[in-house]
Amino acid sequence: MAAIHPGPGRPTSHAPGEGPSAPASATGTRSPRVGEDRLPGRAGAAGGPIRVGIVGATGYVGAELVRLLERHPSVRIVGLSARGRDREPIGRTHPHLGATGHRMDAAVPEAESVFLALPHGAAAAIVPALLAEGRVVVDLGPDFRLHDPADYPRWYGFEHPAPELLAGAVYGLPELHRVELGALSGAAPVLVGSPGCYPTAAILALAPLAREGLIGDLVVDAKSGVSGAGREPKLETLFGEVNESVRAYGLGGHRHTAEMEQELAALGAGAPGGPRANPGAAAVDFLPHLVPMTRGILASCHVRPTRAVGQAELDALYTAAYAEEPFVQVVAEPPATKHVLGSNFARIHVRYDERTGRILALAAIDNLVKGAAGQAVQAFNLVHGLPETEGLEQLPLVP
Ligand SMILES: NC(=O)c1ccc[n+]([C@@H]2O[C@H](COP(=O)([O-])OP(=O)(O)OC[C@H]3O[C@@H](n4cnc5c(N)ncnc54)[C@H](OP(=O)(O)O)[C@@H]3O)[C@@H](O)[C@H]2O)c1
Repeated sequence: MAAIHPGPGRPTSHAPGEGPSAPASATGTRSPRVGEDRLPGRAGAAGGPIRVGIVGATGYVGAELVRLLERHPSVRIVGLSARGRDREPIGRTHPHLGATGHRMDAAVPEAESVFLALPHGAAAAIVPALLAEGRVVVDLGPDFRLHDPADYPRWYGFEHPAPELLAGAVYGLPELHRVELGALSGAAPVLVGSPGCYPTAAILALAPLAREGLIGDLVVDAKSGVSGAGREPKLETLFGEVNESVRAYGLGGHRHTAEMEQELAALGAGAPGGPRANPGAAAVDFLPHLVPMTRGILASCHVRPTRAVGQAELDALYTAAYAEEPFVQVVAEPPATKHVLGSNFARIHVRYDERTGRILALAAIDNLVKGAAGQAVQAFNLVHGLPETEGLEQLPLVP
């Protein structure tokens, strides 16, 4: 079982100056501690915009980071990188971003804050050196989401090369870890493990239940658009394979299950009944599906509650949990992925079925915005002491 990370309102294991030691960098510089060496101010080190770089800029998540950060009022993009590029205009890879005039290089950008949008394992190899240089790192892959090093060989098939960094990395779901993220404001180095797309939807849908110890039995049935699999060509994401077809995958235990279990366990730690309050969240039954659309995730969470509940109690729980959240909308009708397309919103609906005795909690997000780039910018805003919604206020795109 993964180590439990404290939720908001509970003492943080990651107060500034208390982070774990990072390993010495390849150049032999001293080991930094995540969160030490507080810098004054909330903008860039020189007082101007925060200088940001994106690694993995040729991918879908990288492109979405460019789209959002290019219009972020407190940011200047100073470098984009991908393998084998040498001053290559971004429009060659992403025509829709050509007007930005950015170019891509192979080297990691010289930037105060670096977003990593790389396949699993690739970020873990470079993050220690970035932290040794005192940077703020937001990793959008899974390499720093899980706190227990043993989860990496188990779920991802590799031994983590920097396990000592895992306890100090903050899981970048602001609705759960706003206090820890905000406590890092002005600190350097900083490491954020930005959540996966499926876990974002499922955890937001289930968090109010987990805090109350209401998850007796759980099935997370989720559907994703094809962009969730990234831009790298694969047989199973070809148009001819996906179009007019729906299929389940990851039946042997999808990797995102580990994140759901980690965060639901942390939420349940303070619930009535203690750490074992949510038996259904200890071994999440997660079944993802690929559906023929480009963007979007709909997570349908079927819960057998641990005790009798009613619709009024559920409504009160979800309203209390999310009334103040800028990006979570609790809605009276089942949400659709179209309702959040291109935005950082999550739309959540909860319903108690008197006939079956089950709770149904639904969440819809755009996998590339709230499920990836938008959420990472939200966490970035918090660790830089910026308004949480800055650069993220666009409304959904319909039809
Ligand atoms: N897609 C989503 O909805 C989503 C949501 C949340 C999180 N994520 C996570 O975000 C990360 C990026 O996902 P994506 O969808 O953007 O994938 P993608 O479209 O396939 O892009 C992957 C990026 O990584 C680079 N890359 C590939 N192999 C590499 C290697 N061995 N070493 C260094 N760079 C490498 C690629 O660039 P070059 O090949 O040009 O060098 C490309 O820029 C993944 O960890 C993914 O799990 C994705």
